[in-house]
Amino acid sequence: MARQDLSTLPRNLNPQQLPTHIAVIMDGNGRWATRQGLPRFVGHRQGAKSLKELLRCCKDWGISTLTAYAFSTENWRRPAEEVHFLMGLFEQLLRHELAEMRQEGVRISFIGDLSDLSPSLQREMHRSMRETAHNQAVRFNVAVNYGGRAELVNACRQLAEHVQQGTLMPSEINAAVFEQQLYTAGSSDPDLLIRTSGEMRLSNYLLWQMAYTELYFTDVLFPDFDRAALHQALLHYQGRERRFGKISREEAALLA
Ligand code: FPP
Repeated sequence: MARQDLSTLPRNLNPQQLPTHIAVIMDGNGRWATRQGLPRFVGHRQGAKSLKELLRCCKDWGISTLTAYAFSTENWRRPAEEVHFLMGLFEQLLRHELAEMRQEGVRISFIGDLSDLSPSLQREMHRSMRETAHNQAVRFNVAVNYGGRAELVNACRQLAEHVQQGTLMPSEINAAVFEQQLYTAGSSDPDLLIRTSGEMRLSNYLLWQMAYTELYFTDVLFPDFDRAALHQALLHYQGRERRFGKISREEAALLA
């Protein structure tokens, strides 16, 4: 099975300068449906199709990780029927898509506090993680019952416990040690965040991990986010100069 298929990469994108990790906030599903006079859940179903296409593009173009925000710790405040629908959709997708993910070399992981989810959904999640753990074509992280602040508080609590047990000195705590306590331990930070539907917020998503991430906001609603929309996002990304706190290349050349 081919790992990548760069033949579909638009010509004006530089294959050497693609992000290795994209994070996405899939916003606008509800509005997409409401605008067409359809119930909101239809938008979530359509959003799931966009997500599948986005994952396929990442795999084809050698973008090694996609991290999608499927359900935040705040999303429990939505109407009970919508929460129920979303939980059912996650479970259904996992059941229906697992075989294809295995075949396509997708390695799926869930980040967030899974313990609040129904036992049957947790079972499907653990099964899909177990059965795809050795896949290498593309990493697909799905944030469910995820909140960045909760993740950071949890990391602090775990470090405090290590200190209390005498297995860690406070002076040994640094960024690398801290990161080990996050859900994303061992994974690279996102290079690019895409948020759809015109909202320009981080909404408690990957707060630590996105310290140097390039942010891209588009008015496109997530169910309409297709290859062409991803192409636009990548063009913007390739137009950015990532400085990581350093001075610009142009200024550095002048000083040299
Ligand atoms: C935000 O749109 C979308 C969500 C809260 C759910 C997204 C979930 C999926 C697309 C399914 C993916 C599932 C798996 C397991 C990978 P919104 O409802 O906030 O839209 P609005 O802003 O228009 O109201």
